Amino acid sequence: MCKTSLHPFLKALPKCEQHLHLEGSLSPELLFRLAALNNVALPTSDPAFESPASLLARYERFTSLDDFLHYYFIGNSVLLTANDFESLAYEYFTRAHGDGVVHAEVFFDPQGHTTRGIAYAIVVEGFTRAQARAEKDFGITSKLILCFLRHLPVMDADNIFKEADALGHFSNGTVVGIGLDSSEAGFPPELFRDIYATAATKNIRRTAHAGEEGDASYISRSIDLCGVQRIDHGIRLADNPLLMKRVAEEKILVTMCPISNVKLRCVNELKDLPIRTFLDNGVRFSINSDDPAYFGGYIQDNYCAVQEAFGLSVVEWGGIAKAAIEGSWCEDARKMTMLKSIEEYLTKFEAQA
Ligand code: ADE
Ligand code: ZN
Repeated sequence: MCKTSLHPFLKALPKCEQHLHLEGSLSPELLFRLAALNNVALPTSDPAFESPASLLARYERFTSLDDFLHYYFIGNSVLLTANDFESLAYEYFTRAHGDGVVHAEVFFDPQGHTTRGIAYAIVVEGFTRAQARAEKDFGITSKLILCFLRHLPVMDADNIFKEADALGHFSNGTVVGIGLDSSEAGFPPELFRDIYATAATKNIRRTAHAGEEGDASYISRSIDLCGVQRIDHGIRLADNPLLMKRVAEEKILVTMCPISNVKLRCVNELKDLPIRTFLDNGVRFSINSDDPAYFGGYIQDNYCAVQEAFGLSVVEWGGIAKAAIEGSWCEDARKMTMLKSIEEYLTKFEAQA
C-alpha cells in the first residue's frame, strides 16, 4: 500500500494484467507444499531451500535476470500434475481479483515442463481449468500466451509450437498468442523468426521480452524481424528516440514491470524507469507484476510503486488503464465492456473529488 493520496483510486481501478508468468506466481509456501506432495527433492546444497522463509529471503537478493531464472526453473520442478498447474494459476487469479484485475493475459513456459517429462497437454489442462474457475468465481477473463525459452534450441521451441497448433490450441482460442522469454542477452529474437513468421500467417498474436537486459536493438529486431505486436519490458526503448517515436505511432503496447526491473537490477531505482518519457512521447504501456511471488509485488504493489516514484495524475492513470484495454488480445465486446467500466469509474471518481 502506498501513502499517496491516489491510493484509494488506484486500489479500486479496474485493471488488466498483460505481463504475468504463471510459473512466476509460485509462492515459496506452495513450492514447499507441492515438493512434499510430489516427493520432489529440493537442492540440499543451497541453504535457501531450508524453508519457505529462507527462500523468500534469498529472493530479496537477486543479482540479475539469470540469477532469478536459476530459482525460477528450480521452482518449476515441483509442478507435476494438472492439479498442480490448476492450483498455481487459481492462486494467482484469486490474488489478482483482490487487486482489481478484471482481465489477465498470462504467460506460460511449456518447455520448462516438457524438458522434465511433463506433457504439454497436462500443463494446459491445469491452466485452462483454473481460467474457467476464475471466470466463474470472480468474473476475471483471461488468455494464455505460450512463451518459448530463448536459451533452449530453436528446434525445441518449434516442436512445442507445432504441438500446440496440431492440438488446435491457437485456432480454438485456448492459447491466444506466442511470446519469448528467459535469458535475453546473447539470444536475439531473430533466432525465432521462422516460428514468428508462421504464427503471423496463422493470425496468431505475437509478443517478445525485449529491452529488459538487452539493448534497444532487441526491441527493433523483435518488431522488424519477428513482427511482434507488443513489447514486454521495453525499458531500453527510451535510449532510441526514433524507435520510441515509431512504437508510439504504431501503438505497440509496452508491458512494463517496474518492481521486477528494480529487483533484477535492470535499473537502480524505480525513478530510473522511462515512465515519464513514455507518457510525454505517447508510448502506450501497461503496468504489470511479471513474477510476483519472486519479486514481492503483485499488480497493486506495482501501481503504488509507480505512483510513489512519479506522482501521476488521475487523467494519466485513466490513459494507462485505457491503453492496456485497447492493447489487449480479447474479443472486441469484452474490450468495450471494460472501457465502459473505466469511463464510469473515472466519472464517479471525478464527481467525488
Ligand atoms: N521469465 C520469467 N520472468 C522473466 C523475465 N522477467 N524476463 C525474462 N524471462 C522471464
Ligand atoms: Zn516477463
